[in-house]
Amino acid sequence: MKGLILSGGKGTRLYPLTYTRAKQLIPVANEPVLFRVIRAIRDAGISEIGVVTGDTDAEIRAAVGDGSRWGVRVTFIPQESPAGLAHAVKISQDYLGEDRFVMFLGDNVIEGGISTLIEQFAHSEWNSQIVLTRVPDPQHFGVAELNEDGSIKQLIEKPSDPQSDLALVGIYMFDASVFDAVSGIEPSRRGELEITDAIQWLVTHGYGVRAYVHRGWWIDTGKPLDMLSANAHVLDEMNPGVDASAEVASDSEVGRRVTLQPGVQIRNSTVRGPSIIGKNTIIENAYVGPYTSIYHDCVLTNCEIEHSIVLEGSQISGVSTRIVDSMIGRNAEVGRTLRKPKALKMNLGDYSNFWLP
Ligand code: TTP
Repeated sequence: MKGLILSGGKGTRLYPLTYTRAKQLIPVANEPVLFRVIRAIRDAGISEIGVVTGDTDAEIRAAVGDGSRWGVRVTFIPQESPAGLAHAVKISQDYLGEDRFVMFLGDNVIEGGISTLIEQFAHSEWNSQIVLTRVPDPQHFGVAELNEDGSIKQLIEKPSDPQSDLALVGIYMFDASVFDAVSGIEPSRRGELEITDAIQWLVTHGYGVRAYVHRGWWIDTGKPLDMLSANAHVLDEMNPGVDASAEVASDSEVGRRVTLQPGVQIRNSTVRGPSIIGKNTIIENAYVGPYTSIYHDCVLTNCEIEHSIVLEGSQISGVSTRIVDSMIGRNAEVGRTLRKPKALKMNLGDYSNFWLP
């Protein structure tokens, strides 16, 4: 089997972070979501992986390389415009050939890996296998209605009046019959070739499509709160570890579920887990609370933060109110100035959010 990761798209819901960066490269527990996806596919025994890219092609290529770091071979497949998930499949036909494949959205995070799913599908007679999970707000997802025997009745993209709470998780398995499906459908009202329409086409034309209901957590990291929630779940599952080169001063307290990466320095601070502090980051006179990921080369002094993600090279200092539920981009500065007038000063990017208590 081959793997196909969709890493194009626009990422508008994660603006401003995704103005300047591919959303699939935003780290969760200090590892880009896309890298987690590559590892999940590799761990399921697949070593040929196609990565569909869009406007951020150069950045994705530079970050992923040839895949040898994970022991896989990566081929990049540029998509001219984000014309839909089924369009991404269509343009990947030459790469995929007659092989069965798993398609994984490059911004999705799932509990427990996909080895069992892949194994089931690889040796089955099914033309496609889809993964479903129960969600409280099905109108925001592709939704599947099942018949009583568990077979698929119909699939609808973001239904206004959902008849089921079973949403399609961003992992799909297909054989080459999907290429007939993606050629047989028309763009939807939003102008995209929808993968739900392609799967519906398979069902309508009598192909074998199996539904698998996933019981663990699954997160589509499309929005900032989803990112924080994925970060919390992954930190919860993580085996913590303190690198030998990390320095924790005797006046500091570092919890059991904290991961410290190489070169971290902690002075006069409390760090509670689950949390992770990235390479060469300095934490001084500060509190880092649970469910927080601070990426590499950051400096946090005289501040408190929890349930947040801070990207590389950022500095937070002298903020007396605790920072919570926040995402702070790369090389950002959050601080205090003594210069008058005593007022809030900010230099926020387009579509930024800033909330006072
Ligand atoms: P989406 O989150 O559905 O779309 P998007 O990335 O354009 O985000 P937004 O709605 O915030 O603007 O995409 C899911 C994944 O599939 C994501 O990793 C991007 C990728 N994708 C493609 O590779 N090609 C496409 O044509 C589309 C629509 C998405």
